[in-house]
Amino acid sequence: MERIVSGMRSTGRLHLGHYLGVIQNWVELQNKYDCYYFVADWHALTTKYDNTKNLRQDVLDVVIDWLACGIDPEKSTIYVQSLIPEIAELNIYLSMITPQNWVERDPTLKDMAKILRNKESANSQISYGLIGYPVLMSSDIMMLNATAVPVGVDQVAHIEITRDIVRRFNNLYKTDFFNEPRPLLNNCSLICGLDGNKMSKSYDNDIKISDTEEITAKKIMSAITDRSRIRRDDLGHPDQCEVAFKYWKIFGDENSVDNVRYECEKGLRGCADCKRQLGVLVNDRLKSIREKRKYYEAHSDEVHSIIAKGSEKTRIEAKKVLDNVRNIIGMY
Ligand code: TRP
Repeated sequence: MERIVSGMRSTGRLHLGHYLGVIQNWVELQNKYDCYYFVADWHALTTKYDNTKNLRQDVLDVVIDWLACGIDPEKSTIYVQSLIPEIAELNIYLSMITPQNWVERDPTLKDMAKILRNKESANSQISYGLIGYPVLMSSDIMMLNATAVPVGVDQVAHIEITRDIVRRFNNLYKTDFFNEPRPLLNNCSLICGLDGNKMSKSYDNDIKISDTEEITAKKIMSAITDRSRIRRDDLGHPDQCEVAFKYWKIFGDENSVDNVRYECEKGLRGCADCKRQLGVLVNDRLKSIREKRKYYEAHSDEVHSIIAKGSEKTRIEAKKVLDNVRNIIGMY
C-alpha cells in the first residue's frame, strides 16, 4: 500500500471545518493507503512558544477528536511530532539545502506573518522557527518518504516547497531516494463559520465537534441568514442566505434542501424556525461522534497508549530513512 502522511497543528479542540474539510477525508483514505497521521506540536510552537501551558492537553484533544471522528488506530498510525526526534535531525539537513528565498516566498507563511504583525503582543516578531515552517513540514513528509499528502488547498503551497526540496536533495546528492509527494485534495465543500467568514477558532465563529447539543443549537441560532429579510413572511432568497442555507446543503438530504428552498422563497419559513431545524440536523449528524468522544475523554489512558504505540512504530520507520539520509550525504 502507498504510504501517505498528514498532520494538524495542536491548536486545541477541533471544529466542523476540520471534520468536514480534512478528517472525513482521512477516514476514507484509511482503507486505501498506509496512513500516518500526526499532531504537529512543533508547528504549533512556531506561533505559540510564549503560551505553552495547554500544549499537552491540546495534543490530547486533537487525538480524541480524530478517534471520535473515526480515525482507527488499527488501520492508521497516530503519533505526535515531537516524539520523533529524527524529524528534527532531518530538518537540519533540509535547512542546509533550502535556499532562503524559497521559504520567504511561501504565500501561506506570508499570511501568517501578516496576522502576527497585526497582533498586539510580545511575540509579533517572526521567529527563525516560523520562517522554517515549510522546511519542518517537508521534514515531516520526507521522514516517512511518503508519496502523497492529504491536505486542504491552503497547504498546497507548502507541498510545492516539499517537492522542490525533494528534487534538490536528489539532484545534489545524485540519488533517487526521496519520492516527490503529491497533494491529495478532497472534494468536500468548505464550511463557512457562523458569520459567513472562513470557520476558524480565532474568528470565534466555529462549532466544535465537542460542543454540547445546547451550545450547538444556540450557535446556529446566531448564524447569519438572508440580510434582506426582516419579517417572517418576507420572500426569502436562499442563494443570498449567508450561512443557514449553505449549512442545509451540507447537512440536509436533497428533499429537505428542496423543501427549505421552496418554503423560504414563498415566505413560508421564518429564519428562526429554519435555524432551529438546522440545529437538530447538525446535532443528529454529530451524535455518535460526540458519544465516542465522551468515551475517549473518560479513557485518556487508552488515548495515551495509542499515541505511544503509534509514535514508537513511526520512529522505527523514521530511523530507516535517517540512516539512508546520513549515508547519502556522507555524514560520519
Ligand atoms: N501546516 C499544517 C496545518 O497547518 C500542519 C502540518 C504540519 C502538516 N506538518 C505537516 C500537514 C505535514 C501535512 C503534512 O494544518
